[in-house]
Amino acid sequence: MALLEVENLRAGYGSVPVLHGVSLNVEEGSNAVLLGLNGAGKSTTLMTLAGLLPATGGEIRYDGKPLTGSPGARVRAGIVLVPEGRLVFPALTVKQNLRLGAWTIRRDARRVRRNLQEVYQIFPRLEERADQTAGTLSGGEQQMLAIGRGMMSSPRLLLIDEASLGLSPKLTEQVFAAVKLINQRGVTVLMVEQNAGVLAQADTAFVMQQGRVTITGSGSETLADDVVRAAYLGV
Ligand SMILES: Nc1ncnc2c1ncn2[C@@H]1O[C@H](COP(=O)(O)OP(=O)(O)OP(=O)(O)O)[C@@H](O)[C@H]1O
Ligand SMILES: [Mg+2]
Repeated sequence: MALLEVENLRAGYGSVPVLHGVSLNVEEGSNAVLLGLNGAGKSTTLMTLAGLLPATGGEIRYDGKPLTGSPGARVRAGIVLVPEGRLVFPALTVKQNLRLGAWTIRRDARRVRRNLQEVYQIFPRLEERADQTAGTLSGGEQQMLAIGRGMMSSPRLLLIDEASLGLSPKLTEQVFAAVKLINQRGVTVLMVEQNAGVLAQADTAFVMQQGRVTITGSGSETLADDVVRAAYLGV
């Protein structure tokens, strides 16, 4: 069953339209990737799904029902965005950053503890650095922290915006492996990427161009697509 159904979604900034009818379905439990070049509208799509930007047309259905609530209500419903650029709080420690991610469940101390343990299992490096301020972490560690913070509110649908941006190939692989692990633990994932390497682990891939999804297929099918290979792999 599709956990997320997006149909003909339109959104933009002021009078400038950016999404011209985005359609995509994400199956419950799947690992989906939205691939697109700079300016295609990937972040705009995720921000609209998270409720940070109003939709001007089309429909979003989540868990079979129309999705319309505030950003906070969407987080409580399990829709969690890990934004582009990491945006961790540099002066706070790793653990403090993680605890902020648990804001919506802060009254359930046991769940907060359990989620923290889970994040440390997925990212042992964060446990080693728990009391260090986030500003002193490397770029890859900050990305792990941003994803870990998203995990703290018990997401059902995790939206991750360009986790690989600015990371070395090796760190990129580590971050993708961690996302795969998170997905295997039952979290539905929609990752935005420009790195086509991620398609190898994707159940479903959507390619976005100029505010529309132009290709939909399995990860491996899409990786073999000539248009995708030319645009993203230069072959
Ligand atoms: N705050 C904003 N105000 C006006 N226009 C914006 C704003 N943010 C983005 N845009 C425009 O919307 C279009 C899509 O931007 P978006 O950030 O969604 O692309 P993207 O696919 O995430 O690109 P990137 O890979 O560079 O992050 C671009 O033309 C961009 O200039
Ligand atoms: Mg973006």
